[in-house]
Amino acid sequence: MEILRTIEELRAWRRLHWSDTIGFVPTMGFLHEGHLTLMRKASELSDHVVVSVYVNPTQFGPNEDLDSYPRDMEGDIAKCESVGVSAIFLPSNAMMYGDDFATTVEVDGGMGDNLCGASREGHFNGVTLIVSKLFNLVQPDVAVFGQKDYQQLAIIRRMVKELNFPIDVVGVPTVRERDGLAKSSRNRYLEGEHRTNATVLYRALKASNEAWAAGERDAGALLGVAQGVLDSVDGIAVDYLSLVDPEKLNLLEGTVEEARGCVMALAVHVGKARLIDNMRLDGPLPELSV
Ligand code: PAF
Repeated sequence: MEILRTIEELRAWRRLHWSDTIGFVPTMGFLHEGHLTLMRKASELSDHVVVSVYVNPTQFGPNEDLDSYPRDMEGDIAKCESVGVSAIFLPSNAMMYGDDFATTVEVDGGMGDNLCGASREGHFNGVTLIVSKLFNLVQPDVAVFGQKDYQQLAIIRRMVKELNFPIDVVGVPTVRERDGLAKSSRNRYLEGEHRTNATVLYRALKASNEAWAAGERDAGALLGVAQGVLDSVDGIAVDYLSLVDPEKLNLLEGTVEEARGCVMALAVHVGKARLIDNMRLDGPLPELSV
């Protein structure tokens, strides 16, 4: 595996592989099984996989602690190597933003305003800026993202479409524990009853998915089913529970249009962890790890 620490090294590597297809997985490091699943998917779809590890400062708000974001460079390099990644790109802040950076990349249309965007102002503008820079640098054919960050994936898809990046954006289903909990680096904060309570996110989504399968199409009723499950657990704090259009992410009310379907998304504080999850209600229930 090539370790590329500068833009020049990345460009030289890319020139060497100009005729190969490249699958790209952008990450902020501290890699876990979820990331490795994205890399395996990228490897199925391309000749070479490139992974970037970069904790992007522009997607952190003033009250979010960028400095305490977990880092494990040696572990990340070993994990990438273990799944056959061809090159890992490790840029620095100076390289990515320099001193007087002035360009912005924003997907408007309200897509970044609700769900996680409501409590993280400007977050998705930081994501679209860094992802478009990385796309320009890596020049991948395919880019792979997790469906767990549904809002991020939907915004990136729209940016790629509207800015004509020649990149196929692939969303990989969320990897889950046997009890449905979505795998996340934040799960390490969960112990004892918090770990048990954390299953409430999946249980709430599953109950609404079953209500949809049974014929329920009223947005309020579908949300009510999930809310009922959340209310049954003490000691958690719901940040948001929303039903949105799968592409435009606008909040749905009244009868949900069968042809467009819908995504239920939620964020819940359990102990020290803020957990997010989502599910298409008009789709099958996900497979759980055995
Ligand atoms: O999902 C992430 O880890 C980040 O938002 C991404 C896409 C790597 C951009 O920094």
